[in-house]
Amino acid sequence: MRKMLIAGNWKMNKTIPESLELIHALLKKLDSSCPAEVVLIPPFTSLFSAAEALRGSGIELGAQNLSHLSEGAVTGEVSGPMLVSVGCRYVLAGHSERRNLFQEDDTVINQKLKTALSEGLHPILCVGESWKEREAGKTKDVIGSQLKKGLDGLNPLEMRKMTIAYEPVWAIGTGKTAQPEQVQETHEAIRSELSSQYAPETAKAIRIIYGGSVTPDNSSSLMAQPDVDGALVGGASLDADSFYAIISAI
Ligand code: PGA
Repeated sequence: MRKMLIAGNWKMNKTIPESLELIHALLKKLDSSCPAEVVLIPPFTSLFSAAEALRGSGIELGAQNLSHLSEGAVTGEVSGPMLVSVGCRYVLAGHSERRNLFQEDDTVINQKLKTALSEGLHPILCVGESWKEREAGKTKDVIGSQLKKGLDGLNPLEMRKMTIAYEPVWAIGTGKTAQPEQVQETHEAIRSELSSQYAPETAKAIRIIYGGSVTPDNSSSLMAQPDVDGALVGGASLDADSFYAIISAI
């Protein structure tokens, strides 16, 4: 059985006091009966304070990015060991904003996954097509290629530590959510691609979560799809009420 995972990607939002306010508001609402694994992904500057505030709560911490290198003269980057030492368990890689705004390609994303895994982190690899690619009927090809190149050289044991986030680029931050059937169809295609790269049992064990304008209104129909194992939530994770509503809609 795959446990549902609900992750809140705060992107470049929230100062340290704002982060703590949101965490305290969430902690008041969440209790141990929560059926999902909940992960908060604040900006780097809030990680230390967030880790302290979350201690003992059962909520996990993740980072939005990491360097593909482990240490050295790389001004402005943050390494895997640094993320581990601040208390992160998860890390995003391949988010479309990193791919598009910072020209991160599948090769560097693959290196980031390997670095993260070698440090014991659990990476969340984001994949997804643009609207133009969907319109041209290329969704499965685009995602298949992102998965092949991104996951190149990972062994089945490492794969079991991975989560795949399907995030159609046209649905991120736009208010245009993919229809539950579209999402299920793509998640099925992702699982079948993983099955051909690895054994079917490995593919069955990997969580595939959906991201792109998830809100309290659309989350339960998305989460009800058999191959949807959770959500990567951006905008709606910045508010305790809406993030909690998404978690409790499972
Ligand atoms: P959104 O962002 O929920 O604001 O669309 C999702 C994401 O980028 O992970």
